Amino acid sequence: MTKPALNTRDDIRFLFGNEERRLRDIDPQMTVLNWLRLNERKTGTKEGCAEGDCGACTVILGEPDGMGSMRYRTVNACIQFMPTLDGKQLLTVEHLKSDDGSLHPVQQAMVETHGSQCGFCTPGFIMSLYQLWLDGGEDDRGAINDALAGNLCRCTGYGPIIEAARKAGGISATDPVEQKRRSDIATRLTAMIEGAGMLALEMPVGRYFAPRSSDELAALLVAHPDATVLAGGTDVGLWVTKMLKRLDPIIYIGDVADLKSVREKDGALTIGAGVTYSDAHNALGMIARDVGELVRRIGSRQIRNAGTVGGNIANGSPIGDTPPALIALGARIVLRMGDIRREVALEDFFITYGKQDRAKGEFVESIIVPKPDAGVQFKAYKISKRFDQDITAVLAAFAIRVDGGKVIEFRAAFGGMAGTPMRAKKCETVLIGMDWNEASLNAAQLALTRDFAPMSDMRASKEYRMLVAQNLLTKLFIETTAPEIATRLVGREAAHV
Ligand SMILES: Cc1cc2nc3c(=O)[nH]c(=O)nc-3n(C[C@H](O)[C@H](O)[C@H](O)COP(=O)(O)OP(=O)(O)OC[C@H]3O[C@@H](n4cnc5c(N)ncnc54)[C@H](O)[C@@H]3O)c2cc1C
Ligand code: FES
Ligand code: FES
Repeated sequence: MTKPALNTRDDIRFLFGNEERRLRDIDPQMTVLNWLRLNERKTGTKEGCAEGDCGACTVILGEPDGMGSMRYRTVNACIQFMPTLDGKQLLTVEHLKSDDGSLHPVQQAMVETHGSQCGFCTPGFIMSLYQLWLDGGEDDRGAINDALAGNLCRCTGYGPIIEAARKAGGISATDPVEQKRRSDIATRLTAMIEGAGMLALEMPVGRYFAPRSSDELAALLVAHPDATVLAGGTDVGLWVTKMLKRLDPIIYIGDVADLKSVREKDGALTIGAGVTYSDAHNALGMIARDVGELVRRIGSRQIRNAGTVGGNIANGSPIGDTPPALIALGARIVLRMGDIRREVALEDFFITYGKQDRAKGEFVESIIVPKPDAGVQFKAYKISKRFDQDITAVLAAFAIRVDGGKVIEFRAAFGGMAGTPMRAKKCETVLIGMDWNEASLNAAQLALTRDFAPMSDMRASKEYRMLVAQNLLTKLFIETTAPEIATRLVGREAAHV
């Protein structure tokens, strides 16, 4: 049996701008936002919702990219805990102005386009625009919408801010000054952490461990089977800010290097449980275009930069976006306790509402996603009140193979229709072997009423859910029999509304 690492330290090491910080005696569940505003009196970063929705608290985290440079990502400071800064660089709106007082190009562009009125949302927008600038700038309206979808403005309107994004441009990846700056920061951060041992905070208010390998993680979870596993914190953060929970201990998996890879082998992807949506996006998009599109619509850029596919599965939510899609694709997950691993079909992991096939001390190590066989068409449809940054009311995912007009294979999985993400097995049975026509479509729609008895809640009524699920089968029918008919908003200028 693996043993927890003995080499530990109790200080959180990070760069605040260019300034090295080593913090002790910090409550492990203090949010980055509270630390900035209450401890540092850096009040540029605002609190709007404290639940990752409005973007007023947007900051940038930089991490060494493993190739001698840095990569930067926006996150919501309101739901990130302080110890997760360990080994990273934290940048806030206060870091943008030059020493001589001149504004950064993104700030200047916001001034020139009149992108701010009351100003409350502005620091958050500035940080999202700064991220675009660091990534080289963007002119495409869709890509700008995507980068800004996690920032809400109640007074200016988005037109001037989008114009500011275009006007600000970006820094070239080959700019020698920028390259040197990133390389210097990466070297400093690596030196601060290398050989320094695992971060282990044991405070009277709570404990926090940040293992660096999956063996350390496995051993820690065996030693602390009741610990809260923390990945991106886009669910767990809200337990603290909204439900005022105390979590003790917290075991953070975001620093576990071997859970952060996406590998392709034998026609399947293996996604480590620590891989964020942003990092899984391209690979999942290669499996099937609609999975990529689904991931693009999860939360906002800030949420996708932090949240993980593993967390989306482990939280057991009936309205998580990736599980129905992954179930329709036939995904499996690897669960690990100590040195013992077992593999289960994802659909079997969800037992009933609030209950998953995961023992205490066990964790999700990876997700195995097979590529659809040749001839299989994969479609996924997310229905939510807003197109971006909204939780799903109903999600349908279909993998279908039609040959000679007959349905040869069909897997259908839904979210928001039951207490767990679930396959529609009666609907599948009705269709397989049948001609793919309006009569079989109607039979499949009827079968859905035997598969599911959805409930009403604030997102949708049970009647709406059933009707929309049936209509999504119609959409599948149209897209697989008459692909020339336009059925998607994506790609149109108005796709963000
Ligand atoms: C503003 C906002 C918008 C959102 N929009 C969407 C959306 O559009 N679609 C959607 O599906 N979700 C959405 N979410 C929910 C959330 O982003 C996802 O569920 C996310 O995938 C959770 O992943 P995480 O890494 O942040 O998990 P965490 O919050 O860190 O953890 C979630 C749960 O999983 C457990 N856990 C995490 N990793 C493991 C592991 N490896 N092994 C065992 N247990 C583990 C944790 O203990 C916890 O119970 C949104 C959340 C917010 C705040
Ligand atoms: S305060 Fe609204 S997203 Fe953080
Ligand atoms: S300028 Fe007032 S909320 Fe955006």
